Amino acid sequence: MSDSMEQILSDVQRCRGCALCEKRTNVVFGDGNPKAPIMLIGEAPGANEDAQGIPFVGKAGQLLDDMLELIDLDRTKLYITNICKCRPPENRDPLHVEQAACLGFLRRQTALIRPKIIVCLGRISAMQLIRPDFRISREHGQWFDKAGVRMMAIYHPAALLRDVSRRPDTFDDLKRLQAEIRAICPEVYAGA
Ligand code: URA
Repeated sequence: MSDSMEQILSDVQRCRGCALCEKRTNVVFGDGNPKAPIMLIGEAPGANEDAQGIPFVGKAGQLLDDMLELIDLDRTKLYITNICKCRPPENRDPLHVEQAACLGFLRRQTALIRPKIIVCLGRISAMQLIRPDFRISREHGQWFDKAGVRMMAIYHPAALLRDVSRRPDTFDDLKRLQAEIRAICPEVYAGA
């Protein structure tokens, strides 16, 4: 049977694969355009996301939208989701077991979207999707190729709220992202 976003969403909503399901208000499945060739992948929902069921809608999400606007992107041109679909308590990092329990859903989403570019938002996402020993301070903005997909990690927008000194580096990373989009999926900017 072929998979679909609706089927994955329904499976996530019924998931009891880790303890995070017990405290969730909503699962946070994904937002944006599932036909877009670019995926942005964060770590896990916070309080605002849990309340609304949409990724990156709090302060970090507002900053993310502002950052995307700098390179003429918005949520109609990409798909945003997280490694974990339920909120960890007190906004702690998701545990390895929680990430592992959720990863199958992300893999199914990725298989349907078939992105050309994946941007990992922060170190948790990069360690899960690029390399377990990924060092965000050294390797942000670099391109990696995995299974035919171009992958880059940038600082998590919440980290940029805490430490504004990282913003110029992130701006450079975004410019590199924009150049790559123009090179391998120019349709994203067509008509802009
Ligand atoms: N941080 C994340 O990693 N994901 C969200 O959806 C919100 C904040």
